[in-house]
Amino acid sequence: MGTPPVSLDGLETPALLLDLDIMEANLAAMAARLRDRGITLRPHAKTHKSAHVARRQLDHGAAGLTVATIAEAEAFARHGFTDLFIAYPVVARGIKADRLAGLARRVKLRVGVDSVAGAQALAGALTRADAPAPAEVLIEIDSGHHRTGVPPTAAGELAAACRSLGLDVAGVFTHGGHSYAHPGGGAEAAKDEDAALSEAARQLTGAGFDVREVSAGSTPTVPFAGRHVTEERPGTYAFYDRQQLMLGSCDAGQIAVTIAATVVSTAVSGQAVIDAGSKALASDRPGWLTGHGSVPGLGDAVVASLSENHGMVDLGGWPAPPVGTVVTVVPNHVCTAVNLFDSYTLLRSGHLAGSWPVDARGHLT
Ligand SMILES: Cc1ncc(COP(=O)(O)O)c(C=O)c1O
Repeated sequence: MGTPPVSLDGLETPALLLDLDIMEANLAAMAARLRDRGITLRPHAKTHKSAHVARRQLDHGAAGLTVATIAEAEAFARHGFTDLFIAYPVVARGIKADRLAGLARRVKLRVGVDSVAGAQALAGALTRADAPAPAEVLIEIDSGHHRTGVPPTAAGELAAACRSLGLDVAGVFTHGGHSYAHPGGGAEAAKDEDAALSEAARQLTGAGFDVREVSAGSTPTVPFAGRHVTEERPGTYAFYDRQQLMLGSCDAGQIAVTIAATVVSTAVSGQAVIDAGSKALASDRPGWLTGHGSVPGLGDAVVASLSENHGMVDLGGWPAPPVGTVVTVVPNHVCTAVNLFDSYTLLRSGHLAGSWPVDARGHLT
């Protein structure tokens, strides 16, 4: 995205801008890539948290949605989505057990599990003798990110424990999040995903399971998906962001979401301060990336530091723009930035085109 069109002047800022033309192209490209490989697309909706975006992903052929929380699943179920995977080791106790069982009765539900304790809680929620709820579970595998998931060699044992608790094990999943460790890390992490999932699937087959799903996914690994993978769950690909650009997952023309901000001060030499701080851009920053966003309209100047409502742009020799200028900022991590806004301001062919709510904003529980 380049200099904002004239029509952004007068926009109330900070604002979350979504370029629908770019997003549509991103959705179409990912769907075509996976269709060509015969891999199911189940996009992660934590990026956009929007029923409008999700509907378009399904229109492009996605089989269903991935979400991170029960509350996100409930939000998308309310909007009519009927095939949901909570790709998270859900511990379903108390009210969460009731909510999960309620969801399982309304939609085709899959839930992640990576411990016997988690499986016991899920079984308590889903297999009540009076009203069993027909959810499936997927065993989470650690393929190198070392966040959650059991080692591939432990998958069969956990799956057997799930079976003895009355749970229906549909397969295995992993998130190769170590693809974010450094630019160009996607290919290696995709290899790790495939190797870990194939070993885990072998363990399940050995324990007598019919492995119906082998699910992988992060935006940087998708182009390198291995041959054992049946499903991919990218999320960030819908919008991309500065981090994805630097990782090599996209080019600048594929960035669909930016934050519109107004220059509020140029009093300090060499610096422009904008009205987008950590409460608009979020503060995620990988160790290998400098700054908190880039400003294409100011020669790709970097937002060097943040306070809550101030973003300090290091102009790096670029002439200071007049106070009141509206600029667009490419955020480091779009998913956390989106979650800070109530609505998207839409752009179509460079012009303002209405707004959409961020339907599942928050929704942490
Ligand atoms: C379990 C899981 N699946 C899929 C994804 C989507 O990955 P990305 O954000 O790289 O598109 C994530 C991202 O956090 C995740 O945690």
